[in-house]
Amino acid sequence: SAAEKGGHEYFMLKEIEEQPDALANTLRGHFADGRVLLDEQRISEQDLRDVDKVFVVACGSAYHSGLVAKYAIEHWCRLPVEVELASEFRYRDPVLDRDTLVVAVSQSGETADTLEAIRHARAQKARVLAVCNTNGAQIPRESDAVLYTHAGPEIGVASTKAFLAQIAANYLVGLALAQARGTKYPDEVAREFEELEAIPDAVRRVLSTVAQMRALARQLADAKAVLFLGRHVGYPVALEGALKLKELAYMHAEGFAAGELKHGPIALIEEGLPVVVVMPSPKGRAVLHAKLLSNISEIQARGARTIVLAEEGDETVRPFADDLIELPTVSTLLQPLVATVPLQVFSAEIARSRGYDVDKPRNLAKSVTVE
Ligand code: G6P
Repeated sequence: SAAEKGGHEYFMLKEIEEQPDALANTLRGHFADGRVLLDEQRISEQDLRDVDKVFVVACGSAYHSGLVAKYAIEHWCRLPVEVELASEFRYRDPVLDRDTLVVAVSQSGETADTLEAIRHARAQKARVLAVCNTNGAQIPRESDAVLYTHAGPEIGVASTKAFLAQIAANYLVGLALAQARGTKYPDEVAREFEELEAIPDAVRRVLSTVAQMRALARQLADAKAVLFLGRHVGYPVALEGALKLKELAYMHAEGFAAGELKHGPIALIEEGLPVVVVMPSPKGRAVLHAKLLSNISEIQARGARTIVLAEEGDETVRPFADDLIELPTVSTLLQPLVATVPLQVFSAEIARSRGYDVDKPRNLAKSVTVE
């Protein structure tokens, strides 16, 4: 009923709007006196100190949350991080031992490929930490430690609030590792703690783009395809934006690392093709920002319709943006938490415009319990 949907036409929009609370609850559950606490910790501090390699294994959107984690954990902890699709990891004979930490990210905690991946990892003596939204699900039950996201139940098949909570939880895993092991960047890590505590408000502010994104989606509902470009943490955001559009709107969509543009994707650009670009902060990552500006000017010159997500006050992008979506200023590594939100709304509204069931897209299941 409309009441259950909080007055919205579909659950997904309600869940998109619940994201500030999902994040606040996830963070609140794991911060105390400036320290990160894991749930059900059966890994000792010494084991955390001994970790020399991290694998993040997951499927779907959860995998994209892992891609974001790689940028944060490698930087904060100077630990190599590989992010693997659970279905590939399990059957590839990955190199694992007791100093390997495997982070299994799963909203449901029941995804078959992710479960098999952790069983394989534990059989090789690796330590397994689950990031999960479902209390007592199989993946956390079979892990050495758990970090529960507190996004609440998610009804829309395509993940929104659980995905943002996964990203936040993955940052907490990185901060917990930095605490246990020390960090090369203590000031920066301390600042990230403060930034994270303020992130629910930033996400609340980005919800002011909902009306703009819905209007844009209605204009583009008949597009044949949409491309998404990003660099650094904007790259997983681009992948997630494209995945959402495939899942919900059954539209051909691809996410690319913007640096790969000249190695193929630029050949796809034609008059009127919508291209979504996730700009990094001009202050936080000036070099990447300049490179993306040049990428946008190239695709615009070839006739693409550029839809640009950029930090508020970033005037340099305006000449290259047919549509400009302003994002609240947050630290570079946390940008996916704000940049993802307008793209969720975009896909859901295109799907609605095309007459599709936003909450129950065809052929998809909320949780995939067969390999
Ligand atoms: C399905 C859902 C996705 C989800 C993926 C992984 O494909 O439709 O939204 O990201 O499974 O699910 P998990 O429960 O392991 O996070």
